[in-house]
Amino acid sequence: MPLNLLGDFFQSTFHGDPAIVAIAPGRINLIGEHTDYNDGFVFPVAIDRYVVAAVRPTQGPTRLVSLLAGEGQTFQTAEVALGTVEGWAKYPAGMAWVLTQATGKALTNLEGVVVSNLPMGSGVSSSAAIEMAFGVAWNELSALGLGNKELALLAQKCENTFVGVNCGIMDQMASAMGRPDAAMFLDTRTLNIAYPPIPGDWSIVMCDTRRPRSLSDSAYNERRAQCEEAARMFGVAALRDANVEDLETYAGQMSETSWRRARHVITENARCIEFRDALRAGDRSRVFEVMKASHVSLRDDYEVSCHELDAMAEVCWSAPGCLGARMTGAGFGGACVALISANLEREFCVQVEERYRKSVGSEGRLLVCKAVQGAHVLAGDSQRG
Ligand code: GLA
Repeated sequence: MPLNLLGDFFQSTFHGDPAIVAIAPGRINLIGEHTDYNDGFVFPVAIDRYVVAAVRPTQGPTRLVSLLAGEGQTFQTAEVALGTVEGWAKYPAGMAWVLTQATGKALTNLEGVVVSNLPMGSGVSSSAAIEMAFGVAWNELSALGLGNKELALLAQKCENTFVGVNCGIMDQMASAMGRPDAAMFLDTRTLNIAYPPIPGDWSIVMCDTRRPRSLSDSAYNERRAQCEEAARMFGVAALRDANVEDLETYAGQMSETSWRRARHVITENARCIEFRDALRAGDRSRVFEVMKASHVSLRDDYEVSCHELDAMAEVCWSAPGCLGARMTGAGFGGACVALISANLEREFCVQVEERYRKSVGSEGRLLVCKAVQGAHVLAGDSQRG
């Protein structure tokens, strides 16, 4: 991340130095898709692609400028209300809103710049990263005393109520709680996290189809509603509590679509546990099969894949060094995640790019990613306001 660029950008925009720099990573999910809003398991990794905010307190309104997206709508931090801020500034504004509600403290107004090397619209959580970057920034500058887990829960609330996307907790927890060189086996019901190490000779590759996705898509909320309907049918609090026997019992008694949605969630939770065990045992062929089964289930039962994601997964499966691949994130475009043998990184990337281009007729983009620490303040003299 070119941090000197950030300093220059701040200097030329606000003629001075920022008080702090807050950094928050995006995430890629290894397995456990569409399970988080069913109280299930997920397996994300915080990746070395970030949103970075350089900010300082100001007497004027909050004014934020993004290198990519330009100047955001200005707002008074203490007066933010639902529906009053549009465009990309609604993420920081929404954080100000939830933080004020949660702490009862008056948050300082900020002036600042935002840069990012996290692809947007690729399903790697750029919105959670911007929420977390501003969460840690205000936490520091207004001395709110919150921990990263609390900030993640508030960021989810921001997304659900202020931004209007009914997402689960995975993205915000991954951006908040990631650790270097480790994946996160997160129980979204208890928020307990185990950090299984990623073997040193494995690489994580983000295989972006470059077909942009839109999370606000009504399809996401529709899937959620179908899962809730299935859970009611099974008489459980959430699909996390259902099992394959329930599926057999209720087959034919509910809509076929809801039944297939439930089957995805129930089997995906089981796959998450299987993946954890295979990773622990270094069982490469098991990892491959479980990730493939996840993709197939998302494609056929959950119906959130698309032509480009299927093509990307297929070319990954047959590329040299592939230890497993599947679509990652909400779906309907975005990226696949691939685990590969680190010594075959180059061969893998060259072949996948070429074969994807041939198959789909447009360019994909492959990025090798490292697991990193969650959101934090990078530097600054903590002028509190
Ligand atoms: C999006 C949501 C997450 C999760 C995934 C699907 O990324 O923000 O909460 O539901 O989709 O696994």
